[in-house]
Amino acid sequence: MSSSSSSTLNVIMHVRCFTLCFLILSCSAFTSQDYSEALEKSIIFFEGQRSGRLPPNQRLMWRGDSGLSDGSTNHVDLVGGYYDAGDNVKFGLPMAFTTTLLAWSVIEFGNSMQNQLENAKEAVRWGTDYLLKAATATPATLYVQVGDPNMDHRCWERPEDMDTPRNVYKVSPQNPGSDVAAETAAALAAASIVFKDSDPPYSKKLLNTAMKVFDFADRYRGAYSDSLGSVVCPFYCSYSGYHDELLWGASWIHRASENASYLAYIQSNGVTLGADEDDYSFCWDNKRAGTKVLLSKGFLELNIQEFQQYKVHSDNYICSLIPGSPNFQAQYTPGGLFYKGSESNLQYVTTSSFLILTYAKYLNSIGGVISCGTSTVTSENLVALAKKQVDYILGENPSKMSYMVGFGQRYPPRIHHRGSSLPCVHDHSAHIGCGDGFRYLYAASPDPNVLVGAIVGGPDNRDHFLNDRNNYQQSEPATYINAPFVGVLAFFSQELTAV
Ligand SMILES: *[C@@H]1O[C@H](CO)[C@@H](O)[C@H](O)[C@H]1NC(C)=O
Repeated sequence: MSSSSSSTLNVIMHVRCFTLCFLILSCSAFTSQDYSEALEKSIIFFEGQRSGRLPPNQRLMWRGDSGLSDGSTNHVDLVGGYYDAGDNVKFGLPMAFTTTLLAWSVIEFGNSMQNQLENAKEAVRWGTDYLLKAATATPATLYVQVGDPNMDHRCWERPEDMDTPRNVYKVSPQNPGSDVAAETAAALAAASIVFKDSDPPYSKKLLNTAMKVFDFADRYRGAYSDSLGSVVCPFYCSYSGYHDELLWGASWIHRASENASYLAYIQSNGVTLGADEDDYSFCWDNKRAGTKVLLSKGFLELNIQEFQQYKVHSDNYICSLIPGSPNFQAQYTPGGLFYKGSESNLQYVTTSSFLILTYAKYLNSIGGVISCGTSTVTSENLVALAKKQVDYILGENPSKMSYMVGFGQRYPPRIHHRGSSLPCVHDHSAHIGCGDGFRYLYAASPDPNVLVGAIVGGPDNRDHFLNDRNNYQQSEPATYINAPFVGVLAFFSQELTAV
């Protein structure tokens, strides 16, 4: 078809232009210092999401201790971990996914993090310390959530003031949750790689627990939404089922342990990852695209022949993002932003940018290229593709607005985040009750506490951003939006310095 071949040409020209820009840098909107600053801020954000007792080296000073008796109703210590987004619930599935992606960021791009490496590892550890607590009673139980989300969402309260029920939710052999359990195993296994050299005992504990939790996930199969639907849906319902998490969990344990029994598991269960059923929306729910890229490394860098099909799957995934490819299926806004859906779209932008860069790295290590139909895509092309998305998020977009809070001249002043929008406990120590906080939600004034580094849901498919605190689809930050971006920013902070 003529239209398709002319758009193929456009893409090649487009990609060439980006590559050129990338190499000569004169048309780059941001310097390596800018990316370094964004990297630092992207990690500070996680301090704003901390639950539990804050350590002396806490840098985001407006936060205080919270959730100090989490787990006590069940006589278990579940203090710590992260609030997922703008509320005060600790949801296990997105927390585990966040931790996996933070760990993956360190694994792939830790070498580029320079003075931010320790901060990134602390962000991983804040997640894994909690996940280890959640797994103390496995295989009898895995704790997967603290806080009743329906009660929580009826309030607009600071985490430090929380007085809603801190109910504890769990999965068990009778009420299984292979999705949340296998994601927890993935997080623990990925983190074991992060701490392998710097803290071997901790790393070993993470890997052993990952294996135990994975066995629990695989042995007692089921979706956690079946038993916990009233408190995990519609927030973090397991829409994609649990097969994707099982394969993802096994893949991480294989990468961390090189244990052949996980290789065998991947080989006998890998068919569930076929291209047909994949819409490539890599996120807290759907791990398929991430697993494909993760396993492609086994073929590209380690020459594990059994993983060749994942290189093919990954190529298909990448081509789906490139306009003009025969299997092109992505959508871009007029301003060039990858667009997947109206709720927290930037989560898909950060996860796909991470996968693109990671795949570029694997490809580059063998000097490989991808064929998308008749066009050839190099790792430089992929870097350019990711850079376009990163620069858009940081402010190079039609609204001339940074979607990272606290970065650049203009960023969202009213985000959908309880702690950020209410006066902080140090300025206003008196309790602000459940319903009393809503006037801050609806206030037009800017957030009194800047949640530095938070990336919000982002603009719509026409590049429009409605600057309204109650518009959670566009204005809410989330840990899983930031987690892969930590790795992405590390790459660009270093790459440009090196040129
Ligand atoms: C490999 O993993 C399996 C399953 O977890 C375990 O039973 C076995 O002991 C492991 N082998 C080694 C060498 O660690």
